[in-house]
Amino acid sequence: MTRIDKNPSGADSAVTVRGLVKHYGETKALDGVDLDVRAGTVMGVLGPNGAGKTTLVRILSTLLASDTGQATVAGYDVARQPRQLRRVIGLTGQYASVDEKLPGWENLYLIGRLLDLPRKEARTRADELLERFSLTDAAKRPASTYSGGMRRRLDLAASMIGRPQVLFLDEPTTGLDPRTRNEVWTEVKAMVGDGVTVLLTTQYMEEAEQLASELTVVDRGKVIAGGGIEELKARVGGRTLRIRPADPLQLRPLAGWLDDLGITGLATTVVDAERGSVLVPVLSDEQLTAVIGAVSARGITLASLTTELPSLDEVFLSLTGHRASAPQDARPTETREEVAV
Ligand SMILES: Nc1ncnc2c1ncn2[C@@H]1O[C@H](COP(=O)(O)OP(=O)(O)OP(=O)(O)O)[C@@H](O)[C@H]1O
Ligand SMILES: [Mg+2]
Repeated sequence: MTRIDKNPSGADSAVTVRGLVKHYGETKALDGVDLDVRAGTVMGVLGPNGAGKTTLVRILSTLLASDTGQATVAGYDVARQPRQLRRVIGLTGQYASVDEKLPGWENLYLIGRLLDLPRKEARTRADELLERFSLTDAAKRPASTYSGGMRRRLDLAASMIGRPQVLFLDEPTTGLDPRTRNEVWTEVKAMVGDGVTVLLTTQYMEEAEQLASELTVVDRGKVIAGGGIEELKARVGGRTLRIRPADPLQLRPLAGWLDDLGITGLATTVVDAERGSVLVPVLSDEQLTAVIGAVSARGITLASLTTELPSLDEVFLSLTGHRASAPQDARPTETREEVAV
C-alpha cells in the first residue's frame, strides 16, 4: 500500500480513518482502511463494485459499526460521539433517500423539521435549496414524477439542509446520463465552494478527476494507492507524446519511422487516425527529448505536439491488474438507504 500522508498532525483533518475493519460474515468488506481528508477539500474514493466504498461511508456516517479501527469526522469519534457527529454531516446515499410520494418541497421541509429547525426556518431552507438546485418549478410535484437527475439533485438538497461541514456522497452520479451527471457535478462544486468538505465515492475516473483533489483507490476492502490525482497519474506509467503532423499523409510514415529509430526502451507507437496523430508512450525525459529531436531533425512540419498523462482508467489497471469499470450488478433500484439526520 502506498499512501501519502499530507496531514500527519491531523490538525486540519476533517475525516480521519485508521485501521477500519468490517466483516459481513465471511466477507471482509473493509480490511484495514486508513485515510485522511483535509478540511475544505474533496477526497475521491475510487473502486470497483464490492470494493467496500458504501461500507466505509456507512461507518463514517454512523449507520454501521466497524469491527475494529477508529474514525473521526469533524473531530467527533464515530463510535463514541455519534449524535454530535450526525449534526455536522450530510449524506447522499447510493440509492435515493427521498420519499417518492411527497413533493420535493415537503421532503425538504420534513427533513428540516427532523433536524429540529423551527417551522419558519425549515420553510425558508426548503425554498432556498429548491432554488439553489433548480427545482423550484417542480417543488409541488411528487418526487416520483422527477427524472433521475432531479431526484439526485433533491437528494443533494436534502443532505444540505443541516448545513453540513462534511458531506458524504456515495456514487452520486451512477446511472445518470452525461448531461445530468454534469449538472450534479456543478452542484457539488458549488457546495465545495461554500467550504464543505466532501468524501465522494465513485467508479468513474472522470468524476474523480472533475471533483476530487485527492484520491484513495480501494480494491477488495484495502487501500491500494492514495495521493493527489496528478501525482497518482504521474506515478503510474509514463506520459504519452501526441504528435500531429501538419500533413495527415505523413501520419503512417512518421509512426513507422519512429518505430524503426531504435530509441532505447521506446514502446511501439500507436496511430490515432481519427485525431490525425501518432501516440508515443515515453517513460523518461531522455526518451521524450530523443523523440522530439528526431522529429525536428527530420524536418516534419507539426500541427501540434502535446504530452498527456495516463487516464485514471489506466492508473487503476496498472495498480490492480484489472479494469475499474466492473460491470454493474443487478440490484433493485428501490433499495433505500437510511438518511443520517
Ligand atoms: N449487508 C451486507 N451483507 C453481506 N455482505 C455485504 C453487505 N453489504 C456489503 N456486503 C459485501 O461487502 C463487500 C463490500 O460492499 P460495498 O457495498 O461496501 O461495496 P461498494 O464498493 O460500495 O460496491 P458498489 O460499487 O457495488 O456499490 C462486497 O463484497 C459486498 O458483497
Ligand atoms: Mg456502494
